[in-house]
Amino acid sequence: MSIVYLNGTFLPMQQATISPMDRGFLFGDGIYEVIPSYGGKFVGFKAHIERLKSGLAELMIREPEIDWYAMLSSLVAQNGSGDLGLYLHVSRGADERRFHAYSDPTKVSPTVYAFTFQIGSEPIADPAKTKRYRCGMTEDKRWRRCHIKSTALLGNVMHFQEGQSAGLDEMILYNAQGQVTEASACNVFMVKQGVVYTAPLDDQLLPGITRALVINILAKYSDIEVREEFFDKSELLAADEVWITSSSKEIVPVIEVAGQKIGHGEPGAIWCRAQKLFSDHKYEY
Ligand code: PDD
Repeated sequence: MSIVYLNGTFLPMQQATISPMDRGFLFGDGIYEVIPSYGGKFVGFKAHIERLKSGLAELMIREPEIDWYAMLSSLVAQNGSGDLGLYLHVSRGADERRFHAYSDPTKVSPTVYAFTFQIGSEPIADPAKTKRYRCGMTEDKRWRRCHIKSTALLGNVMHFQEGQSAGLDEMILYNAQGQVTEASACNVFMVKQGVVYTAPLDDQLLPGITRALVINILAKYSDIEVREEFFDKSELLAADEVWITSSSKEIVPVIEVAGQKIGHGEPGAIWCRAQKLFSDHKYEY
């Protein structure tokens, strides 16, 4: 049985309950993180907690006094320490009435909830065994605060569902200028003539932890050039390789976008080097 953490207590998931007045439930007023943990070892733990803290600060939600590492390590151990994703959620908490303005932080405490889920075995840099994605492409219809890892994910959910309904694995998003920003639940990279490109950080995309690890690891351990520059959807379709990244997937090669084959329609050579370096160095961060 799955053990979860809720507001200071570890308990079976079936026994975890929150108030229907919780602002996470009523408004999606909260922040979350998904942190991978393989055999009890976290990937990018510090960066995930830093992003959580900056999201809480931006939303003026008081940071709960919790030793995140101790709590999450204990949760992982209580769930068998296998290959797990950790979902960590902090909402503004349950107020007495439904009122749009932020609650008084001296009266309302944040709700903290964490659970684990099976994440699948560690991704490996093997073109024969890796997942390979077929993606659609659509204009981003979400809000202009995509840098906040908000639990208000309906825009993302609707884009992701567009892809699922069309039998696709992900939806790559572009803005009104045709620039590729990210995907509904991942960041996006492309490779052209040996150079790796990904959109620069702004309010149109999430500052993905996997994105940051890929950039840092390639800079430190390879001569592969990474440019944080916008590229448009026609450049994406003409790329030699396209990848998507997220904590639960690491780097996934995309072999088809909007019905068009990318490169040779197979995981590319630079993807293979990047995923190998990622696997070798991801625990250093
Ligand atoms: N999704 N962009 C969006 C919109 C995302 O939802 C995610 C992650 C990413 C990648 O971020 P990171 O590398 O920090 O996981 C980019 C998570 C995994 C989810 O919602 O389940």
